[in-house]
Amino acid sequence: MKKILVTGGLVFIGSHTVVELQKNGFEVIIIDDLSNTTINVLDGITEITKIQPKFVKLDLKNKQAVQTFFKNHKVDGVIHFAASKAVGESVHKPLKYYENNIGTLVYLLQEMEANKVTNIIFSSSCTVYGQADTLPITEKAPIKPAESPYGRTKQMAEEILADVSKVSNLNVIALRYFNPVGGHESAIIGELPIGVPQNLIPYVTQTAAGIRACLSVFGDDYDTPDGTAVRDYIHVVDLAKAHIVAMKRLLENKNKTKIEFFNIGTGQGSSVLDVINTFEKVNNVKLNYKIVARREGDITAAYADTTLANTELGWKSELTLEDAMRSAWLWQQKLIKK
Ligand code: UFG
Repeated sequence: MKKILVTGGLVFIGSHTVVELQKNGFEVIIIDDLSNTTINVLDGITEITKIQPKFVKLDLKNKQAVQTFFKNHKVDGVIHFAASKAVGESVHKPLKYYENNIGTLVYLLQEMEANKVTNIIFSSSCTVYGQADTLPITEKAPIKPAESPYGRTKQMAEEILADVSKVSNLNVIALRYFNPVGGHESAIIGELPIGVPQNLIPYVTQTAAGIRACLSVFGDDYDTPDGTAVRDYIHVVDLAKAHIVAMKRLLENKNKTKIEFFNIGTGQGSSVLDVINTFEKVNNVKLNYKIVARREGDITAAYADTTLANTELGWKSELTLEDAMRSAWLWQQKLIKK
């Protein structure tokens, strides 16, 4: 049984990926510093899969602790989620983002090299493309200057991984996520935003639940069919499955180059109003919303060309925006009960 280290394995995408890894017969060891989640997620994963993953509370900024971890645990591959991800916060606290997202990656790669761990899946983002000139976005689209320190950390991390893979045994797959949404169908795990949500879906579900009075739709004067901004909303369970396929590709030495990049999205663009309408329709709830000014730094439209992921990686999204909106609402209702 192959053993996979999942950093940030108790947060949103990480926890769903741990479930899929276990379902596929991998042994999982999670490290997480619990800065952006709770230990209850570990019980949630165990409840779904009936297998308790090994968990080590560890802050990747603690270089010594990372060294000790790798000395004590032999792993076959790493899926690296742990990072800070609030775009707005990164503008005000750039050093936090460079330390959390870049400093820790360096420590991780140093210890992987020292311990001959050669496979890593990295959480990248469509943010590296900025506002692409052509839609849908292929992996060949140019990397645009980042809008925020957060975005810059994703670009820098890809470059660091490329540099290291060139001169070592490291094999890398960087998955460029579009907009991850939804939750596990059991509603046992899901997205747990801390404080006021910055992202659309948690704001939608919290508004529907009455926690927020009104959803602000940021701009209706974009050059899109209904004037609101367009994104590619990918169900987190589909996204989690992409990591399994990618890890198997590395473990079976099927990767074609030392570092590979894949867009992980549905290929379909949905506007903010499409999301609101879908949410209302599938859940039979009314959402209180109003149109306000554009949010600074937002792009007009982004959706993936998924041809490379479909043909080369052998992965394709299966769940729909409807599925995502249903599971997100189920999860929100569960949270309220808790
Ligand atoms: N939006 C609203 N109201 C809200 C929140 C969001 O109208 O309350 C709109 C945004 O303006 C945007 C869309 O909903 O048009 C999606 O916004 P999100 O904040 O959910 O997602 P973003 O596309 O802005 O950001 C996501 C990830 C980032 C990543 C970025 C890459 O959250 O981590 O994609 O483009 F960097």
